[in-house]
Amino acid sequence: MDSKIKTLNDKLALAHLGGGQARIDKQHEKKKLTARERVNYFLDEGSFEEIGALVTHRTKDFGMEKQQFYGDGVVTGYGTVNGRLIYVFAQDFTVFGGSLSETHAEKICKIMDLAVQVGAPLIGLNDSGGARIQEGVRSLGGYADIFYRNVQSSGVIPQISAIMGPCAGGAVYSPAMTDFTIMVEDSSYMFVTGPNVVKTVTNEEVTSEALGGASTHSTKSGVAHITASNDIECLESIKRLLSYLPQNNTEKPVDLNYNITDEVRDVLSDIVPDNANKPYDMHSVIEGIIDEDSFYEVHKDYAENIIVGFARLGGKSIGIIANQPLFLAGVLDVNSSKKAARFVRFCDCFNIPLLVLEDVPGFLPGTDQEWNGIIVHGAKLLYAFSEATVPRVTVITRKAYGGAYDVMNSKHIGADMNFAWPSAEIAVMGAKGAAEIIFKRDIQAAEDKEAKWKEKEAEYAELFANPYSAAERGFVDEVILPKDTRRKLIKAFSMLENKEVNKPKRKHGNIPL
Ligand code: COA
Repeated sequence: MDSKIKTLNDKLALAHLGGGQARIDKQHEKKKLTARERVNYFLDEGSFEEIGALVTHRTKDFGMEKQQFYGDGVVTGYGTVNGRLIYVFAQDFTVFGGSLSETHAEKICKIMDLAVQVGAPLIGLNDSGGARIQEGVRSLGGYADIFYRNVQSSGVIPQISAIMGPCAGGAVYSPAMTDFTIMVEDSSYMFVTGPNVVKTVTNEEVTSEALGGASTHSTKSGVAHITASNDIECLESIKRLLSYLPQNNTEKPVDLNYNITDEVRDVLSDIVPDNANKPYDMHSVIEGIIDEDSFYEVHKDYAENIIVGFARLGGKSIGIIANQPLFLAGVLDVNSSKKAARFVRFCDCFNIPLLVLEDVPGFLPGTDQEWNGIIVHGAKLLYAFSEATVPRVTVITRKAYGGAYDVMNSKHIGADMNFAWPSAEIAVMGAKGAAEIIFKRDIQAAEDKEAKWKEKEAEYAELFANPYSAAERGFVDEVILPKDTRRKLIKAFSMLENKEVNKPKRKHGNIPL
């Protein structure tokens, strides 16, 4: 028996060494952790149970039968994060550059199947040179097997992808179909085709970093939701993200069971400036409302005119969507609509109530927006809110103008409770523009045109630059003092806790894509 135990231990020791010490050293030189180091850091100490440590590839072409590494370039298994079950795969760059073979894909699929059947999140730590070139179409088939499972699991279990090294070609589409993509700065990149192919096809000269680094994808393309400065920060960030989420779509997020007090937050009283054209930072409103230091922002540097992220309110997880007057006056445009729509749909999948903080002057005008399809992208957000059945509450802090008023979780599209601050202005447009259009003749006929315009502007503002016209019709449920917002919201979400909506049977809706 001793020799048999030795055989097993020898095999496992080899598996633990991946592609060998020299390649491990190379990984460390690049300031990257190895796949095993990542898994061990990520999961609760001692909780990792590996599946398939002794799997090897089956390729005989190109002398590959002589190059065998246990595990075949991916570490897969399950464990716990803060005591909750998690499935994880970590690609091992020290084995064939973490490239994806048929067996490598089978290992990932095995834990994907378990994750969705058991109902626990799936975390992918990606670090791979792409399809295993020696395996040709077998490798491509492996990718497709993963993509298919990503889609079947979508909306059933949270799926999170960390990009901790190369992720190119077909490899990008699995992360793209998961719920969140987190990229490590300077050591990761994602692109469909790399700089060499780009140069050949389009004659553009571009570096990997500029083409698909963390900064590019978190600011320009929106492919990355979150960035981290190194591997450890990346893994910590995923743990924090998981803390806001339920295990699957049949559960609610963990409730920290705070002792709720009737807390007044005076800090909220002085944020909105008297001058309606002056910007302010909506983050101050968010911080003023939520539990201390509980905001986890998603897509922080992309489409900054809208803020989205998770927070806790009275110990309960919520998703926040907030216009940001500091950027483009908080308008809705193509990118902010897409960003917010995706976030709303994620929260709705996973029973996370939605809080909307509204200060929106409308949609961004211009050829750039129209030609890029603001109509269809704006419709995404409208659609996403309209179909969401989780508890939904809106607070209008200042402007709620035009079609954007309807879109931003208005009562008309199914919001449960709408509050407005006394500073709210709910109208088709700002008073100045409105007066110019509807009193054009009066203004033109007047001797002092400027004075007439001002008079008519004041007339319109009197009627609509306030929350009362909407409150009279019940479009706003209550006009509240800013300092009472936190306690009003805690009560509203608590009242809505057992909300249930039964929808007519259908295969699925047809969201404008
Ligand atoms: N298939 C098989 N082996 C691969 C591979 C792949 N797709 N990508 C990398 N490898 C192997 C390399 O042969 C090398 O093996 P070795 O350790 O035995 O020498 C090892 O992985 C590390 O690759 P290397 O090129 O030395 O690392 P790098 O950090 O300098 O470059 C990449 C990383 C990803 C940029 C580079 O390996 C690459 O361009 N790979 C091919 C990418 C690709 O076109 N994939 C197919 C399309 S999806």
